[in-house]
Amino acid sequence: MVVEIDGRRLNYWLNARKVTLPVLATRTQTDSGTFASIVNGGRGEVDDVTAKNVAGALSVRIGDLMSDTTELPRVIYSSAADIARTRRPITRDGIHFYNYYTLPVPPSRIGPVLLDILCPQDRVPALNNGHLEPAITVNLGPGDINGRWGQSLSPETWAPIRANRREDAWVVGDSYVEPSYCPHSYGLASDTPALLLSYTAPSRLSSHLEEQNRWTDDQAALFRSHYGKERVASAAILEAQMLRRGVDVRWLSMTSGIEERQLEGYLNGSGALLTTSQLEQVARSLNVDHRILLQPMPGRDPVGKTSLSYERSIETARAFRSYQVASMAASPLHSDLSGIFISVTGSSREAPALDLLDDCDSHYLVTAGALVFSWKEDGVVQQRAIAKGDAIWMGPFVPHGFGGRGALLKLNNGDGGTYQDQMEISVAWNLQHTLERSRGDFQNWGYDHGSGGK
Ligand SMILES: [Fe+2]
Repeated sequence: MVVEIDGRRLNYWLNARKVTLPVLATRTQTDSGTFASIVNGGRGEVDDVTAKNVAGALSVRIGDLMSDTTELPRVIYSSAADIARTRRPITRDGIHFYNYYTLPVPPSRIGPVLLDILCPQDRVPALNNGHLEPAITVNLGPGDINGRWGQSLSPETWAPIRANRREDAWVVGDSYVEPSYCPHSYGLASDTPALLLSYTAPSRLSSHLEEQNRWTDDQAALFRSHYGKERVASAAILEAQMLRRGVDVRWLSMTSGIEERQLEGYLNGSGALLTTSQLEQVARSLNVDHRILLQPMPGRDPVGKTSLSYERSIETARAFRSYQVASMAASPLHSDLSGIFISVTGSSREAPALDLLDDCDSHYLVTAGALVFSWKEDGVVQQRAIAKGDAIWMGPFVPHGFGGRGALLKLNNGDGGTYQDQMEISVAWNLQHTLERSRGDFQNWGYDHGSGGK
């Protein structure tokens, strides 16, 4: 079997492991020219025994060395008919409960789905089990929907998600954001059918949770008890950073100037919260990014969700570039999940301006009218007529715009540039150089060719 090795990844691991090409050749008993040509040529094939030996010599998995350089598309377009063909029914509680439809998305990405709500109004819809992915959900109408978020029904767990029935509505309905593992379910609120747009976006905790699944139960239980004490999570984070650094309360008090008793109380959850300036002092003592020690802003109701009625969305309507836009439900506790309603009232005779550009993936769904979609590809402006029900996946940093008359929704989840990435970008040393050097980096860390490396 032949394995395709990615030269950039091989080079990354050679640098990370401080192994030179000649040393790798010796360790794997391979001609040294083989790896040099892979590193210089961008990729190359080796037999599976060699691949296994290389992986062993670098202490990585073979998959860590394999090519994953498939270029992401700039744009994926799906017509309403394409989306209709993705329909699959699901049964719950013994009835045909939803039809699901998928919006376009590149392989291995999670995209939004549409749901036909079919549970009739005289039935309380049976709950699902919830899921790790937080979600942003919008009623596309035409009918209202009953939302359910808990076993017992209360104003927080049983509420309408209404459609805006105005003829010319571009803010099409109520929206809400839900956190991980929030059970939820939807039923019709009347005889009028209803379509829901729901974007279950990747949880930013998922890579850490994957890591925890490689721990023993004992390790996972100790993690839970560290973060499970009656205190704010930020206090548990501070304690973890102190432990890593061999710092106790006494030393932290001495170096930060905050009283020991106050630090104790904060760390064990019995005292007052530290102020922002105190947390900055603590961060300086520990040499950690103070932002991880701050209290997040509140932004959830008692069952964890954040809702916005369409009337409140309309209150946020504003001019943005050549459009009118309005906000969907959003929470500072889900920084990557966002959405806007967009009204396009341009002239179809004029070429639309390429006045939109996002730093991360975005998803568009046309909710009304006939539009002209333009985007730039290799310096050339492309155009396509799009209409109600069509959808677009848009890559980061692709200039684009819409003309004609109609309305769209846009959803982002931070894929391709998360807020955690932004935290790291904000502290990168010599950012421009880092970005230029890292793009397709085939340089070794600096050793003479033919040497054993130092
Ligand atoms: Fe869901």
